[in-house]
Amino acid sequence: MGSRHEIELVVNGEARRGTAPARTSLADFLRDTLGLTGTHLGCEHGVCGACTVLLDGAPVRSCIVLAVQADGHAVTTIEGVSGPDGRLSPVQEAFCQAHALQCGYCTSGMVLAAQALLDECPHPGRAEIDEALGGNICRCTGYVQIREAVEQAARAIGSAPAEPVAEEAVAHD
Ligand code: FES
Ligand code: FES
Repeated sequence: MGSRHEIELVVNGEARRGTAPARTSLADFLRDTLGLTGTHLGCEHGVCGACTVLLDGAPVRSCIVLAVQADGHAVTTIEGVSGPDGRLSPVQEAFCQAHALQCGYCTSGMVLAAQALLDECPHPGRAEIDEALGGNICRCTGYVQIREAVEQAARAIGSAPAEPVAEEAVAHD
């Protein structure tokens, strides 16, 4: 039996810990150890983007990142995107409004990739959107609505009044 490694990380603003063999992927650790099954697995080879999460704010394919590599880092999964009251984020809302999902299998990865883009570039052009999401495969939508959703989210975020960050956002328990 291989040895297990202690992993401590911050997931969606909450300190989490667990143990895993060295070869466990971050995706499997999130899903199987932490119970965060919103991260989807498609190809498990770093190709489809379904498993995209944010590692210290940057999008990564969690099927090809080892859980031990995330030790000491901050991870955002789709479960951490909506508000503490369950309200959808502007990106999630825009995906609904623009009909940017059908089966939803790619959607958590798409939303996180889009969020990372908008965090870095609040007013992306089409080329930037296509570049940021080009590695995320969707078998259903044809991508046009996904691009529209990102544009809608950018407009919504740009026109939203500045909101103070709620202290209670981290008060889960
Ligand atoms: S499941 Fe990770 S890139 Fe496809
Ligand atoms: S909505 Fe079905 S794969 Fe994208």
